[in-house]
Amino acid sequence: MQNVEVTPRVWDHLLAIRAGTACACCGGPWSAGERGALDLYGPLARRDLGPVVVAQIGQSLDGRIATVSGDAADVSGPDGLAHLHRIRALMSGVVIGVGTALHDNPRLTVRLCDGPNPARIVIDPKARLSDDAPVLHDDGTRCIVVQGVDHPRPSHVEVLKLPLVDDKFQPEAILQGLRGIGLQHLLIEGGGITIAGFLDAGHLCRLQVAIAPLVIGNGPAALTSTIQQTRLADCLRPETRVFGLGSDVVFDCGLTSAARDATVPKHGVPVTAS
Ligand SMILES: NC(=O)c1ccc[n+]([C@@H]2O[C@H](COP(=O)([O-])OP(=O)(O)OC[C@H]3O[C@@H](n4cnc5c(N)ncnc54)[C@H](OP(=O)(O)O)[C@@H]3O)[C@@H](O)[C@H]2O)c1
Repeated sequence: MQNVEVTPRVWDHLLAIRAGTACACCGGPWSAGERGALDLYGPLARRDLGPVVVAQIGQSLDGRIATVSGDAADVSGPDGLAHLHRIRALMSGVVIGVGTALHDNPRLTVRLCDGPNPARIVIDPKARLSDDAPVLHDDGTRCIVVQGVDHPRPSHVEVLKLPLVDDKFQPEAILQGLRGIGLQHLLIEGGGITIAGFLDAGHLCRLQVAIAPLVIGNGPAALTSTIQQTRLADCLRPETRVFGLGSDVVFDCGLTSAARDATVPKHGVPVTAS
């Protein structure tokens, strides 16, 4: 396991990689913790690797994301939450399902680190989300609703209307539609139904599972993949790197060959002691 230390200078460097004004192999010398940060976040910051679709889920030790009453506020510890905000800052858009938008009222802004707010995208096939939901507030950041029905939205909200097949959008059609409006680097933030849709269709480059040392017991499961295998040997066993954030541990799974190639460390500058 690599420990991650996100110092201001390594975070500035990652934001510069994201902006295209620095490259992953420059800078330093870096401490071991800073190299951990570059290894974890570098593949998300880089723009020379083509489109990136990463899903992140924060869960308990027993694979839950909430209690039976729906309390989901603090599954991740403080470092897990900061990690989520860092991924938001490195992506051009963050995608949630309407279930999360209705249940959690998230704002999807970057508040726990420096960096730009990503575009906010809600998958809402039947237009159930109210226009005054926090995720659609007009703060100058792009807001997009992916809808399957005609339903007018306020002028600052873009509507991406896509065809429904058996009440579902094809995940590939969502990604193509978002790429068509300039959004190539996407965080699929949840919930479980939405992440599983992209995972099962093979459209995630990376899956990050952040585990907090908490046992919830009965409650909704984190990932709700619908894939059924009879043999463990046939199950997805991705190449995985493990990072210690402090309060939480992240399993970073490369699901495509491009994602795996991107994790070869490129920060070849001499290293200082940790
Ligand atoms: N721990 C974490 O990291 C984390 C992160 C985010 C959310 N959450 C939790 O997750 C829970 C909500 O998750 P959830 O899995 O129930 O719901 P969800 O994934 O947030 O939303 C699911 C809904 O989004 C729409 N949707 C998603 N993908 C679609 C597709 N390909 N085609 C058509 N519609 C699609 C559907 O809406 P319709 O129902 O209208 O058809 C679907 O029922 C909340 O409790 C929240 O707190 C946890």
